[in-house]
Amino acid sequence: MQQELTANLLKPAASLSPKFFYDALGSKLFEAITLLDEYYPTRTEAAIFEASRADMAQALVDAGIRSPCLIDLGAGNCAKAASLMPALQPRQYVPVDISVEFMRDAAAQVQNSFPALDIVGVGMDFSSGLQLPAEVQPHDRVFFYPGSSLGNFHPDEARGFLQHIADPAEGHARGLLLGIDLVKDSATLEAAYADALGVTAAFNKNLLLNVNRLLGSDFSVSQWQHVAFFDRALSRIEMHLEARMDLQVSWPGQQRRFRAGERIHTECSYKYTLDGMQALLHQAGFSQVRHWTDPKQWFAVFWATV
Ligand code: AVI
Repeated sequence: MQQELTANLLKPAASLSPKFFYDALGSKLFEAITLLDEYYPTRTEAAIFEASRADMAQALVDAGIRSPCLIDLGAGNCAKAASLMPALQPRQYVPVDISVEFMRDAAAQVQNSFPALDIVGVGMDFSSGLQLPAEVQPHDRVFFYPGSSLGNFHPDEARGFLQHIADPAEGHARGLLLGIDLVKDSATLEAAYADALGVTAAFNKNLLLNVNRLLGSDFSVSQWQHVAFFDRALSRIEMHLEARMDLQVSWPGQQRRFRAGERIHTECSYKYTLDGMQALLHQAGFSQVRHWTDPKQWFAVFWATV
């Protein structure tokens, strides 16, 4: 991990992986982002689930899946999966998250609400591969990947990840319930990633504090500013941290100078069209694909079966 961080910081165009956003404070800041007026994805997706929960449950039944093993990718506070449980009636629930402590507490609360449910919590960074423990039942697996987190992968990586899930020898998915943010006007997109309160700016800068802990570096948060913009040609929001002055960062055995205005690229958040995501799911090996969306078509939930 230190090698990866060092290599990326020393590249001419420096970058840091967005997986390092999610330390304990970062996970809380992300939760706060989801409550912001400007951050429409969470509430839009929740409204789609609310309106179409019964339809989604029927889609599983139509695919011959009755008591699924619900594998919740990036489970976080487990709230989205918990809201679907009465409709989907899973036999086993597998929350997977990089932020282990945060997820364990949330999984314990789910267990209180559903005492009979078999819960297998998995603390894992699945951005580089998904290896599930043997206790996870191999049949009737339904992967749940809400929140448009797939959009934080580059499209080639996203295809590879979906292929892995769909592979009968690897992920063993019977189905996938996937939340995806859709392409829309730039002002709406950019406001969602540069909110007036500055919560997203704090989320972005907190990455530097986490890197200081992981690497022993001496980033000073006040020397950096948050930058977010939509690149329509690449169909993605880019987040960066921009040096406010000429500065130097040091960590054991290394250092790097940044000129005022120089940036560290911290995140891409790809936005898809309905057709684009449908095509990606087919390319990844899913045969049947349908979706639900909101009246403005800002967000979509896809149901794909192998
Ligand atoms: C987790 N992921 C889907 C969020 C997104 O919208 O790309 C992360 C985020 N970054 C800034 N705001 C939210």
